[in-house]
Amino acid sequence: MENLNENQVAYPMPRIGDAAPEFQAVTTQGNINFPADYKGNWVILFSHPADFTPVCTSEFMTFATMEEKFAEANCKLVGLSVDGLYSHIAWLLTIKEKIEYRDMKNVEVKFPLIEDISMNVAKKYGMIQPGESSTQAVRAVFIIDPKGVIRTIIYYPLSLGRNFDELYRALVALQAADAFGVATPADWRPGDDVIISPAGSCGKAKDRMEGKEEELDCKDWFFCTKKISKEEVLEKVLKK
Ligand code: BEZ
Repeated sequence: MENLNENQVAYPMPRIGDAAPEFQAVTTQGNINFPADYKGNWVILFSHPADFTPVCTSEFMTFATMEEKFAEANCKLVGLSVDGLYSHIAWLLTIKEKIEYRDMKNVEVKFPLIEDISMNVAKKYGMIQPGESSTQAVRAVFIIDPKGVIRTIIYYPLSLGRNFDELYRALVALQAADAFGVATPADWRPGDDVIISPAGSCGKAKDRMEGKEEELDCKDWFFCTKKISKEEVLEKVLKK
């Protein structure tokens, strides 16, 4: 157990299904009141270890170039590190003016980046993991739904850059699961078959095995899939 002095507060680790912990913060896009300012939107709140570091720079460039794609899925992005506002501003300007990486250049990070020198927010969200670093946040990702509920949590260590296609896939899968009342199997993408709830009674299990629910493809009584077309998913989730 960490030894805390009287000015320190120990926060429980947030969990999937919890209300996103509230905070007010200064960001590169002005002050925010979280999660109230994001009500009605999905939001990805993510931390990075430090400004002016290479893995973080590659991540910010990648995330910034995908911002519109996330916006089309009704999702806003909010970053955080335990650096100060002027460091954030200088780093983001450097990225725009000087850094070319892969096929990205002139990348403008338009989403807010929280300054959190006090570590107030990082601690509330369990982003400081002393086994990895007690002075920098790990690469945490919280996907929070329009009601302010945490729906997915992913943590990466300092040395491992995130896969932003996977974050987008997870966001769309969460929204599809909500919209259609289904679950999504391994590696699911729009257009792939989805999983329906297992049979809840012996009668239902028998019916499914006998093929009485025609829209289902049952591998066994507990493992049934059904088709939802890519168009249906895109229409409902991405409003396309
Ligand atoms: C990086 O973003 O490059 C980085 C940050 C902290 C530790 C290791 C790498």
